[in-house]
Amino acid sequence: MQRRDFLRTTGVAAAGVWLAPAMVNAPDTVAAPGAAEDASVLGIGAPRMPLPRPKFIAPSGLTLTAAEKSVAVDGHSAPALAFNGTVPGPPLEMRRGERVRIDLHNALREPTIVHWHGLHVAPAADGHPRLAIPPDESYAYDFVVNQRAAMHWYHPHAHARTAAQVYRGLAGLFVVRDEEEASLGLPSGDREIFLVLQDRRVASNPAAAFTYQPSAPDIMMGHFGDSVFGNGVPRPTVDVEASTYRVRILNASNARIFRLALSTGAPFVIIGNDGGLLPAPARVDSIDIAPAERIDLLIDLAGLAVGTRVMLRSLAFTIAGGMPGMGGAGRGMGGPMAGMGGSTPQGTPLDVLELVVARGGGRAYAPPARLSTVGSLAGTAIGHQRTFRFATRMMRHTINDSAFDMSRVDERVPLGRLERWTFANDDMLPHPVHVHATHFEVVARRGGRGIVLPWEAGVKDTVLVLPGESVDVLLRFDAHRGLFLLHCHNLEHEDAGMMMNFEVV
Ligand code: C2O
Ligand code: CU
Ligand code: CU
Repeated sequence: MQRRDFLRTTGVAAAGVWLAPAMVNAPDTVAAPGAAEDASVLGIGAPRMPLPRPKFIAPSGLTLTAAEKSVAVDGHSAPALAFNGTVPGPPLEMRRGERVRIDLHNALREPTIVHWHGLHVAPAADGHPRLAIPPDESYAYDFVVNQRAAMHWYHPHAHARTAAQVYRGLAGLFVVRDEEEASLGLPSGDREIFLVLQDRRVASNPAAAFTYQPSAPDIMMGHFGDSVFGNGVPRPTVDVEASTYRVRILNASNARIFRLALSTGAPFVIIGNDGGLLPAPARVDSIDIAPAERIDLLIDLAGLAVGTRVMLRSLAFTIAGGMPGMGGAGRGMGGPMAGMGGSTPQGTPLDVLELVVARGGGRAYAPPARLSTVGSLAGTAIGHQRTFRFATRMMRHTINDSAFDMSRVDERVPLGRLERWTFANDDMLPHPVHVHATHFEVVARRGGRGIVLPWEAGVKDTVLVLPGESVDVLLRFDAHRGLFLLHCHNLEHEDAGMMMNFEVV
């Protein structure tokens, strides 16, 4: 099997410029209004919805209530779950060094607990499933954020309920700012766009857009939607000026990988990921973003005429060694797996966000050659090596052949020791692997795409491991002792057992 075909990456060209072969259609800068929906199965003729602009609040002295709530989707009332009445939850913003005090109140009819994905906090504040609280109870979080600027997020982590609760609307942004980032003078205010992406299964029933009813194949592959919601609305659109924008994207989908590209064929400049700013900017034609990953982009709209419409879209792709009908390059669409994942399996092209140039502006921003001083661990002596094999066999999702057991400690890791962990995927499904309590450096990928991709520079907390790939990361737990999690962030896989406990000792 030609695994190397997947993503068709050709490697890194000079000066940090990554060139993907032409897989984007010819530039079509000025699509006629109404023609924007060409790639979508859904939403033809339906108006685009304004992208709600997040209003950030300080995460101190905050009560965060998880409760049922109906939200409007295309004029229908869709039952959902919301934090403080909003979907996604209220975005939180703080500066490095500030103290966070949040009371989570569970007004749901089932247990929940919140995890601060990307934050390095003590076990009592990390939202481990053993800490889940029953209905009507509260949980107090109190921690100081002492880590670099980055866009993180929060979501429930109750055992076997994460997929449903996140899908039904419980997720929100958590943005950390620091001096290093501020010194760059990046586009800000209206020119900084925050985008929480989730694919939702709407079909012809908008009232069911936040209803979670997975089939048996969904539990195996992951739950895929047919329509992309941005900040809680379908077919999002945003009016912009002809300037450079900073666009910060979270993929909060349960299972969908997006391959983002612009309809104009223009490249992105990637400046950051789940760990914050990259050491240096990189120019790319398209970017793959798996569940729980974040990317920080510069999109240059300076010079475009008023009236220009640019679609940020997810391109079609196939996964070499993947499952036929699930974005796999395996042939035989008539095989036993055909049709799994519904009409929009992994790799289906989808519209993501329409940018409409509504005003001139002309503010262009060029990033400096050096963005940050994020350190490299490569070259430091490695104290220990571990391998984690992610596998789906016979409807079981496992790591090193075991399914999650809340009371079993699978690994013990000494505080402060540099280790190399290898995440290996020998099966036919993609696994976005996430580690709690630290960030890691991606140092090598063997098999599959075979390289460390430009958006994997710097540090990360989630890395996509495709069929046939082994990814090496370097990491060290410096902050807290205690029990943390390693898991696949395909939420159906996580809930079905692709998760393990490790204890920092
Ligand atoms: Cu975002 Cu343990 O997860
Ligand atoms: Cu996490
Ligand atoms: Cu997985």
